[in-house]
Order: sequence, then structure tokens, then C-alpha cells
Amino acid sequence: MSGEPRPNGTAGRGLLVEGASGIATMAGPIRRGGAQGNADLISGGALAVACWEGRILAVGWSDEVHRQIVAEGLPLDEFRRLDAHGGFITPGLVDAHTHLLFAGTREGEWQVRARGAGYLDVLATGGGILSTVAATRAASDEELLAGGRARLAQMLANGTTTAEAKSGYGLDVATEIRLLDLIGRLDREGPVGLIPTFLGAHAVPAEYRDRPGGTDEYVAHVVRDQLPAVARQGIALFCDVFCEQGVFSADQSRRILHAAADHGLALRIHADELAPSGGAELAAELGCLSADHLAAPSEAGIEALARTAQAGHPVVATLLPATSWFLGKHHFAPARRFIDAGVPVALATDLNPGTSPTLSLPLVMSIGCVELGLTPAEALSAVTINAAHALGLGAEIGSIEPGKQADLVVWGVPTLEQIPYWLGADLARTIVRRGRVVFERRA
Ligand code: NIG
Ligand code: FE
Repeated sequence: MSGEPRPNGTAGRGLLVEGASGIATMAGPIRRGGAQGNADLISGGALAVACWEGRILAVGWSDEVHRQIVAEGLPLDEFRRLDAHGGFITPGLVDAHTHLLFAGTREGEWQVRARGAGYLDVLATGGGILSTVAATRAASDEELLAGGRARLAQMLANGTTTAEAKSGYGLDVATEIRLLDLIGRLDREGPVGLIPTFLGAHAVPAEYRDRPGGTDEYVAHVVRDQLPAVARQGIALFCDVFCEQGVFSADQSRRILHAAADHGLALRIHADELAPSGGAELAAELGCLSADHLAAPSEAGIEALARTAQAGHPVVATLLPATSWFLGKHHFAPARRFIDAGVPVALATDLNPGTSPTLSLPLVMSIGCVELGLTPAEALSAVTINAAHALGLGAEIGSIEPGKQADLVVWGVPTLEQIPYWLGADLARTIVRRGRVVFERRA
């Protein structure tokens, strides 16, 4: 990374970004069906975005934007000018699924998998997620914060202005609470906004796994001890469960998510990543905001998700193609089927040390285009407006519309299509969050 994040941003009440070659505003509702590919594009002239006191004030042709500033009675000289130099502007990207906080790395599992072991085989022998749990429990707050800060700096440099962040490498009351506290601290520090998710049911920890009925006992512990402690402290907005054959069954997941809803948490779920496990069906049944992974949903699961969208309460299909790719699965979520069925699709990194060590949503968009067959505009909807809706924040972020939080990325390319085209490139040039410049790449 060749730029520096600026935690507090560059001050000023107004910001006027001018000289863009195109703007994907992503304005309007959640994208599903044919609308998934609608970027609400403005192009072909002198374009600008005006921000005032952290909110979008106006977007469009430069002269119109100027007129609007004057019409609102705002002082033009209080607007800091930023030249987009012919770059393309999108909303700040939203990463709706990350396991941000962990200690240690797991590159050794590559070799183990190359010798034929499956992802869940590694977990079953006490490795995988459980090796990260051991390292995370042993790490100090300062170590975890330093890792989180370093990763957030790179996520920001790749255009991410808001990210969901899960606990789930503690698997005991004290460490789960500690992780959620640290996520809250990093959110307050900025510059990336964080949405905290409690994932106590990420795996069955060593203390429970080797005894008969251990998984059910751990589920009871999550419901009886972890969830109430998390809810009491008000440090999570969501509850998530790894619903997968061999991890937590749909029944066990239902128990946890029901209890979470009773505590006032909103719901999301790791669903049908490796095998059809009833996860998509459960997401529809419980009204989860998002069902994630979905590389192996059942037919009934796809239909159940489609019905939620038809009923006007869509479960967003948050697909994580970097994970399938990194695990060498050669088997990806049926994104086109979801779009054809009218299910809104989001894309996220799934950032974690085991299955998706990436900090780049543009790279995930590239994999989405190549392996899921998405168009660049569909992929952009998936990391902006639909990802915002997957976090329940569709009215606040995810598009460039007057009144919304002023989160923008100026890309060093002239078109939307070139964002996923330049694989793994450092394309984000300037990043604005809440109307302030929080990142500028050095030339
Ligand atoms: O979403 N599948 C479960 N959880 C993560 C992986 C976590 C890990 O392997 O550490 C995921 O891929
Ligand atoms: Fe995950």
C-alpha cells in the first residue's frame, strides 16, 4: 500500500469533488433481478459530487451541483475542492462479511489440503478455526487491535468504508466479549465503520467437542451464557451461526438464532457453504437479513429465498467467491440463479485466516465476474447498495444520494468496468468517509 489512512480525515464543512469521468451513484432501492445490473450511471461530461457536513448534498453535472450549493444558501468558499482527475466515482464499498479480528495465520493448511484433506477434516482434528481460537485467546488486546488496524488500513486502501466484523475466535464468554469490545473500539477510532456481529457458534471449542452430546451442550452454553452477556453489554447488532453439516445443524442454529432474536439481535447466517444443510431455508424461515456463502444451497433453499424477496422482505444472498476460490473448490454459488429468481445478491470478502485471507473487495468483484458470471455493474451493486441492505443500512450508506452519509471512492480508472478488470491492482485513489478525505494514494 502506498498511501496513508488518516483516522480523522481532512477537516472542513464542505467537500466538492470535481472532474470525474463517470459516477455510479447506485441510487434507489435494493437491486434484484434485472435491476442488479443497474448502477444508475452518470457519464460523459464534467461531473461532481458535493458533500456538506458529512452528508451528500448533490451529485451530477458540475454546473448543476454548483447551482444547488448556491440555491441551498451554502458558502462555496467553505467547500474544499478535490480534483478527481478523470477518475470514476462510486459509493464507499461495504464489506458485509468479515472475520476481522484474529491472531495468527494458517498458511500451513494449504499443504494439508493439497494432500487431500477437506476444510472440515482439518477442523475435525482440532485445527482450522480451532487453531485460530487458541491463538486468539492467547493474544493480548494490543496485539488484536494492532492486527485489526493493519487490516483495516488495507481494506480502506481498497475502497472499503464500512465493514461488518464478527467475533467467533473466542468461543467462551470472556473472549467473545473481548472481541466485540475491540471491534467497538476500532469502529470508534475509524476511519472504517464497523458493524459488530456475535458468532459464538462458529465451531465447537476443544472443551466441549470430545464428549458425547458436546455440540448440544455448547449450543446450550451459547444460549444460556454467551448471548445474554453479549446482549446485556449492547456490543453486537447481529448474531450469526456457522450452519453446516458437521458443524451446527439447522436445528441447533435455529435454537441459537431464536434466542438471539429474543435478545433483540438481528440475524445472519453462514449457510450451505460446503453442502446443502438447510441454511437457506432457515434464513428464510427466521427472516435473516442475509444468508452468506450459499455455494451449495438446495433447490428448496433457493425457492425459499426467492419467496422472501417476492414478499418484500428479501434475505440478501451474500456470496463469498474468494472463499470458494481459495479453498480450490471449483464450485461456486449459483449467482445467476439467485438473480434470475429475484434474490438480491451481495458480495463480501469473508476476510479470515483460514479460507479467505483477502482485504480487497475489488478482487472479490473480479472473482465474482469471472467465476460467478456477474457483470461489473452487478458486482458493484453487490458491494455497495445490496451490501448496505444486507447490514440493514440501506437508508444510510451504499449509494451517492442527497442526505446519505458521504462515503465515496475516486478510482484511478475512467470506467466502472475497469475496476474489476485490473486484477488485484491498487486502484482506489482518494477515499472520502463522512465527507472527509480519509485516504489519498501517493502518486
Ligand atoms: O466463513 N466457514 C466458517 N467460517 C469462515 C472460516 C473461518 C476460518 O476458517 O477461520 C468462513 O469461511
Ligand atoms: Fe465467514
